[in-house]
Amino acid sequence: MPETPAITETSVAGAVDAALTAIAAATDSAELKVVRARHTGENSALAGFNAAIKSLPGTEKAAAGKLVGAARGRLTQAIAARDAELVEAEESARLAAESVDVTALASRQAAGARHPLSLLMEQIGDIFTGMGWEVAEGPELENEWFNFDSMNFDEDHPARAMQDTFFVDPVESHLVLRTHTSPVQTRSMLDRTPPIYVVAPGKTFRTDELDATHTPVFHQVEGLAVDKGLTMANLRGTLEHFARLVFGEEAKIRLRPNYFPFTEPSAEMDVWQPHAKGGARWVEWGGCGMINPNVLRASGIDPEEYQGFAFGMGIERTLQFRHDLNDMRDMVEGDVRFSQQFGMVV
Ligand code: PHE
Repeated sequence: MPETPAITETSVAGAVDAALTAIAAATDSAELKVVRARHTGENSALAGFNAAIKSLPGTEKAAAGKLVGAARGRLTQAIAARDAELVEAEESARLAAESVDVTALASRQAAGARHPLSLLMEQIGDIFTGMGWEVAEGPELENEWFNFDSMNFDEDHPARAMQDTFFVDPVESHLVLRTHTSPVQTRSMLDRTPPIYVVAPGKTFRTDELDATHTPVFHQVEGLAVDKGLTMANLRGTLEHFARLVFGEEAKIRLRPNYFPFTEPSAEMDVWQPHAKGGARWVEWGGCGMINPNVLRASGIDPEEYQGFAFGMGIERTLQFRHDLNDMRDMVEGDVRFSQQFGMVV
């Protein structure tokens, strides 16, 4: 305990002033608690005065007690008032911090992205409708007759074998998941009279394992033209135009002899990729040829009067070549980050 302080109006007022200044300077209720302890607690000047009263002569005790009591009263009041102020300020700061602006715009849902295969099929549809062709569709669950017989496949053609084709139970139903979009050729010819110009993009199925270059569910686009006097030159010109619009002005195509039951002559078509990662190269893009007369006959078209050409290519492969993608699995996994790279075309 410091030496006994003198209890005078000046000394008490000095202590009160110091306390009031500290009370006013407290910026939050926690700080005010410290101020209260310092100026009214055990070691405060006020407590010193209280203790000093005891040693005063009896005649002075009452006056000193009154002086010190009044000082304590003032400080208690000042602390309570400041505390109320600070608590209220703290409360409104907390409410402001916690407030929710119900008029604010909701944070936007991240936009998805359309799948690049869908976009590419639409683009192909646009390319051909731009030349006056129609876009046609056929069922994914297809009659074996449309998928194979009408396409001039022999009864024992290997493509019918179980390892390539998804046959559908019961076998007597003669339904398959179409292995190519070529059955749309027959459907289109049966539905129309020549001249016929159709493209048919769509899903196709083969019993392949999913790996970097195969997927059991994939897409093709079929092209079919039936008219008078069509030749391989028309086929070639159409494919070249198509290739340029899909791959860019520098694209070139090359035809190599091949065999398909539904075309004669048949060719494999390659497309030139001038900017492939591994350097410029030819890649196999699809099959094509002049429609086999048997296929025209199966659709009731007289091959003496009309000729036609057809082509078919894989959409996955087209996307893969165009964007130098090395793993086809990216196209089937459905990760939106893959699709977003192709832009949000609607
Ligand atoms: N249907 C063939 C295939 O799936 C492609 C093709 C279509 C070939 C039209 C020639 C004509 O491989």
